Amino acid sequence: MAMFMAMVMAMFVAMVMSVVLLARRLPWYIHPTPAEGHPNPPSAMRHNDLVGGKSMVSRDADWVEMQRSLQAPLFPSAIARAHEAAVTVGKYRDSPASVQAVTMVKAAVLGASGGIGQPLSLLLKVCPLVDELSLYDVVNTPGVAADLSHISSCAKTSGHLPKDEGLKNALTGCDIVLIPAGIPRKPGMTRDDLFKFNASIVRDLTQGVADHCPKAFLLIISNPVNSTVPIAAEVLKKAGVFDPKRLFGVTTLDILRAETFAQKYTGEKDPSKATIHVIGGHSGETIVPVYSQAKPAADIPDSEYAEIIHRVQFGGDEVVKAKDGAGSATLSMAYAGYRFALSVLRAANGEKGIVEPTFVHLNGVEGGEAIIKETGFEYFSMPVELGPSGAEKIINILPQVNEREQALLKICKEGLQGNITKGIEFAQNPPQK
Ligand code: 2OP
Repeated sequence: MAMFMAMVMAMFVAMVMSVVLLARRLPWYIHPTPAEGHPNPPSAMRHNDLVGGKSMVSRDADWVEMQRSLQAPLFPSAIARAHEAAVTVGKYRDSPASVQAVTMVKAAVLGASGGIGQPLSLLLKVCPLVDELSLYDVVNTPGVAADLSHISSCAKTSGHLPKDEGLKNALTGCDIVLIPAGIPRKPGMTRDDLFKFNASIVRDLTQGVADHCPKAFLLIISNPVNSTVPIAAEVLKKAGVFDPKRLFGVTTLDILRAETFAQKYTGEKDPSKATIHVIGGHSGETIVPVYSQAKPAADIPDSEYAEIIHRVQFGGDEVVKAKDGAGSATLSMAYAGYRFALSVLRAANGEKGIVEPTFVHLNGVEGGEAIIKETGFEYFSMPVELGPSGAEKIINILPQVNEREQALLKICKEGLQGNITKGIEFAQNPPQK
C-alpha cells in the first residue's frame, strides 16, 4: 500500500512539474523575450525629430512598436524588411542607400484640382515620406482625393472644399504646404499679368496657414512667385508667425530647364545629375542661370550662349505657346514642386548636404545679410542649404559669377525690385473691394 501511495505521489509530482515546466515554456512561444544577440531595431527606426511641431513618426518605428505591443518576436526577416523599406526610400531619394528613419509627414496641396495641383498631388500620394495628404480647392477635391485614394501607397488622402471649414480641416496638423492655386497664363501674358488674380488667392490661403499650421514649411508655386512670396511673408508677419526659414518660392522648374537644355554641354547622360544653379527670381529676365559654376562644367560657346539663356528664362513661354490657350507648364511644374518638397523633407529628416536654389526672404536666414548687401534686395533666389529647420544657410555664389552672368544679374535687378515691391504693397495696403 505504502509502495502504491509513493508511486501515486511520484506520478502526481511529475505531472505538476511537467505542467509548471510547460507553462514556463509556453509563453516563450507566445511571448518570447528577445534571445541573446537578437537584433535590436536600428536606431534609425526609432521616432524622429519634431517637424512643424508634429512628431514625424517613423513607419518602421510604428512597426516595431506594434510588434512590441503584441509582444510578438522581432523576426530578422521583419528587420530586413524594414531595412529594405529604408533602402528603397534611399534609392527613391536618389541618395546613398542607407538605413534612415522613414519619417512620415502630413502634406497639403492648396489648389489641388488644377493643372499643377493634380499631378503634384499624385506625386505626393506616392511619396514614401508622406503618410497623410490633404487636398484643398474651390471645386473637385472630393473627386481628386477619391481617385488618388485607390492608389495603394501609404498616404491617407482627403479632399476639402471651402464649405464646412474645409481649409482648416485640410491644414490642421500639416508639416508641409504647397500652394499652386490660381490661374495660369494664356499666350501673350507675362507672369506679372497674373498678379491681379493670384495675389489675393495666395494671401487668403497663407492666412489659413498662419491660422492652422503656422510651423509648416510653406512652398509657393503660384505665379508671379517674385510677388506672391513677399505677399505670403507679409501675411505671416502680420499674424506674428513668420519664420523666414520656412517660406520658399519654388524656382526649381528653372533649374530643371537649365539642366535639360545644357545636357549637350555638360555631357551628363542623365541631365538631372548635373548641378546647375539658377539665381535671381522666377520670371523672364529675372531668371539668371549660372552656367559658369555648373558641375560637370558646361562649356557653352559664346555663339550659343544667348540662345540657351533665353530658353531657360522664357522656357515657360514655349509651353504656353505650345498649349495654345490651354494654360502653362503643369506637369513639369508639378514635378519641380515635388522635387523641391522632397529635398525639404529629406533635409528635415536629417539628411545632410542638400542644397537647392529657392526664392527666400533673405533677412533671417544665415548668409542672407551678405546677399542683401550685394543686391539691395529683401528677396532673392540663391542656392540654400536645407536642414531640419528649413532654409539653414544661403550660399553666396555672387563672388564667383563671370562677366556674362554679371550682365544678366544687372538686367535681373531692374525687373525684380518692382515685382517684390508690388507684392509687399498689396499685402500691406490691400485694394478696397
Ligand atoms: C513656368 O515657369 C508655370 O511658372 C511656371 O512655366
